[in-house]
Amino acid sequence: MERDLTPDWILKQTLNLQQTALMSFLKEKESAMGGNGESSEGLTLTVLGCGTMGIAILGGILDSLSTSRSKQSDTAVQDEPKRLPSRFNACVRSSKSAERIKGELGQYEAFKHLTIHQNSNANPTQDADVIIIGCKPHMVRGVLQAEGMQKAVKGKLVISICAGLTEEQIVAFLPSATHCTVVRALPNTAAAVRESMTVIATSPSAPLDQDTDALMTWIFTRIGRVARMPSANMDACTALCGSGPAFIALIVESMAAGAIAMGIPRDDAYFMTAQTARGMTQLILTGGEGGKAEHPAILKDKVSTPGGCTIGGLLVLEEAGVRGTLAKAVREATVVAGLLGEGKGGVNGTRRNLSTAYVLAVVLGA
Ligand SMILES: NC(=O)c1ccc[n+]([C@@H]2O[C@H](COP(=O)([O-])OP(=O)(O)OC[C@H]3O[C@@H](n4cnc5c(N)ncnc54)[C@H](OP(=O)(O)O)[C@@H]3O)[C@@H](O)[C@H]2O)c1
Repeated sequence: MERDLTPDWILKQTLNLQQTALMSFLKEKESAMGGNGESSEGLTLTVLGCGTMGIAILGGILDSLSTSRSKQSDTAVQDEPKRLPSRFNACVRSSKSAERIKGELGQYEAFKHLTIHQNSNANPTQDADVIIIGCKPHMVRGVLQAEGMQKAVKGKLVISICAGLTEEQIVAFLPSATHCTVVRALPNTAAAVRESMTVIATSPSAPLDQDTDALMTWIFTRIGRVARMPSANMDACTALCGSGPAFIALIVESMAAGAIAMGIPRDDAYFMTAQTARGMTQLILTGGEGGKAEHPAILKDKVSTPGGCTIGGLLVLEEAGVRGTLAKAVREATVVAGLLGEGKGGVNGTRRNLSTAYVLAVVLGA
């Protein structure tokens, strides 16, 4: 088609081109910011091994980003790090795992910013600012030593959620020239319902900068509550918060069994016991003066009427040594977590009647 190349026509075409380029630039920028248009540059977060725990963490984050800012409390917005994750990569091996991610996370609006990668870790890691290692602990060495990975993690924040693996062990999987910041965080199974107790390991000799620390808090408060402990305490934290949910399940199951024995229908017994436990934990967390935490012993005494049924039941528990037994379970799990971290196998089957000296030796690393 012939056209008159008049100055007017050339100007109009140039302006059109400029407008298209501007619109495309703005669209790209908005996408990089997670679509909320409030942060200057969003971070890219890659989950290496996105199974049960990776999905729970991404679920919390995507849900939070999909919820409009106006619905979030002022404090939540104030405490935010300068840059939030806005693009996501989830890495898995099988198509079954890829389908699971789509099935569980597809409901969130921010899912459009997530890319699923199958059998390809190096590119999404290279693309990332922050990496979460979410595969099984024994797979970490292989994942980090695969081709292209050492270059890809260089200079990045690497968060390991792998039980039993220390920061030093993870750093040792990488060549000495691979400088990256490795932080250990231990969420628990209640992440699935955003009630995790996540413990973030701190290193007094190499504290995180304020913004990285704020980012760690932001990520893990998407799935529950966060506490910080020195790395040396992580085996005890693994026992308390990682194994703790199983211990609590056993207590709930046992109390319900008593009620079932006394004629309460099974499902009602589990429901009533679980809600009773939930109510009491809420009182321990916030039942004190001004909404502060309350000591469990005070709450226990408050409901133990002299001559009543509660003190009767409590004395049965004390006579059977339940307090000491539960405390011992946490101590035992701490020792086992330490041995697993050292790569030892058969740790539950080879020891009997641990001496106090042995427990102290393992816990203190002597
Ligand atoms: N579950 C918990 O309650 C809990 C609590 C605290 C800490 N943790 C820690 O969290 C980590 C994950 O536990 P999980 O229960 O989420 O395990 P999981 O459900 O088995 O998830 C592991 C994921 O890693 C993927 N994967 C395996 N090898 C890979 C590779 N080479 N490259 C990329 N992806 C790979 C798997 O994909 P494929 O299935 O396709 O292989 C799977 O999606 C563990 O280190 C565990 O110690 C778990």
